[in-house]
Amino acid sequence: MNQILTLVNRLRHSDNLAVLTGAGVSAASGVPTFRGQNGLWKKYRPEELANPQAFRTHPEVVWEWYSWRRQLIRQVHPNAAHYALVELEKMVSTFTLMTQNVDNLHQLSGSINVIELHGNIMKNKCFSCNQPSTEDIHLGSGLPRCKLCDGLIRPDVVWFGESLPMEALKKAQLAAMECDVFLAVGTSAVVEPAASLPYLAKANGAYLVEINTEETPLSSKTDLFLAGAAEQILFELSEHIK
Ligand code: OAD
Repeated sequence: MNQILTLVNRLRHSDNLAVLTGAGVSAASGVPTFRGQNGLWKKYRPEELANPQAFRTHPEVVWEWYSWRRQLIRQVHPNAAHYALVELEKMVSTFTLMTQNVDNLHQLSGSINVIELHGNIMKNKCFSCNQPSTEDIHLGSGLPRCKLCDGLIRPDVVWFGESLPMEALKKAQLAAMECDVFLAVGTSAVVEPAASLPYLAKANGAYLVEINTEETPLSSKTDLFLAGAAEQILFELSEHIK
């Protein structure tokens, strides 16, 4: 049977679907991925900037990098992959979308039950007291500071060496354990702890599916690997299911 039809069949009988997304889902919107073909790491070394030590040493450089990404993300729109996931959410009784993406495109497309594992690039918080900050950031007038403690304001995303938001991670782990189908889409599946979620799902009996343009360390462990672009495969899937 055609692989997509195999998945359609599975989803028709699923009442608890969990989906983990990564940068590949936003690639068709024009947001560069970190790894893989055309990945940002071919041009920059984000791990050198996306860490607390880099922010302590040269916050202005880190802010410059995030301002550039914010500017880019402000101009993009959800693509067919995001919209297909909105359709999938409507058809199963329990649906959880856990994303490593910080670009807000799932929420913008209309997905409801979204867990942001790595934060949201449009939000800010204090580097010292951790309080969220709602101030508009204007880098031209110096580095932004916290109204409460005068600490430096930083983007509210998870950096290398930092823990994920506890509640988000717990919810994601629970969803992985309880789902009957788990879909890993457009993620290189190498950054922990998100990378463990598909294995957790499979260990708890879920049917594990991966959609990616390239093979990842997860591919050989899946029940079904669909090679191709998320925006095409998910679109086709949602058309079959509608
Ligand atoms: P990566 O950039 O590591 O991986 C993107 C994956 O998407 C690769 O495996 C590509 O093959 C695949 N891909 C590219 N275009 C695709 C398409 N159109 N359809 C399907 N797949 C496609 O992104 P993540 O796995 O999300 O963390 O990266 C995980 C984390 O690493 C990020 O959240 C970020 C980064 O460091 C932090 O910043 C903390």
